[in-house]
Amino acid sequence: MYDQIINDLRTAYDGSAHKRDQTEKSAWKLEARQDFLDLLRQEGKQTLLEIGAGPGHDGRFFQDNGLTVTCADLSPEMVNLCRAKGLEAHVMDFLNLDFPDAHFDAVYALNCLLHVPKPDLPAVLQSIRRVLKPGGLFFMAVYGGIEHEGIWEKDYHKPKRFFANYLDEQIQAIVAEIFKLERFTAVDNNNEAGLHSQILIMRRT
Ligand SMILES: C[S@@+](CC[C@H](N)C(=O)[O-])C[C@H]1O[C@@H](n2cnc3c(N)ncnc32)[C@H](O)[C@@H]1O
Repeated sequence: MYDQIINDLRTAYDGSAHKRDQTEKSAWKLEARQDFLDLLRQEGKQTLLEIGAGPGHDGRFFQDNGLTVTCADLSPEMVNLCRAKGLEAHVMDFLNLDFPDAHFDAVYALNCLLHVPKPDLPAVLQSIRRVLKPGGLFFMAVYGGIEHEGIWEKDYHKPKRFFANYLDEQIQAIVAEIFKLERFTAVDNNNEAGLHSQILIMRRT
């Protein structure tokens, strides 16, 4: 199931990469990444891996603010857009991160882990944990607040994308098995399907 889902996601995101590159980011995303940058600076963190980096807007923001950034994404078109912005970027599935153990001070994952089938999420979180240094910080944002798993029928991407969504208490319990959860924020963004954004700041202990 995992392989079929990521093959379809790769096709969907290759096809929407240029459109996404031209889309402005909403205010809550700008605020959340600034808050995370402030935290990284307070703690003197220097190296950051962005997974599901998309066209590289956030990677470029962190790099422009002095961090050493590495981007990874499933979609070759997205990776090309990252490289065009002067970012080091790799075509890579976040389930199989090809980096040494304890390599990064921080990992940033905005709206990408919502594509992981529910049975595979613990293994993906372990893959992220492995590449983080002890004490390293992990930013994750996903849409949730409802329970859902499957193809999003109203999706405009081709093929339609797979999503997994959790209630607030469910996603907090899952990540707390693997990381120390330091902060949870739910952001209401007036989503018609009843979804809100869930922002989780975690630490590898
Ligand atoms: C909704 S986009 C978000 C992109 C970017 N983080 C942003 O917020 O603009 C989700 C991204 O996750 C990537 N992605 C999905 N599944 C992935 C996987 N298994 N491994 C790596 N990247 C993945 C997609 O290719 C896509 O670029």
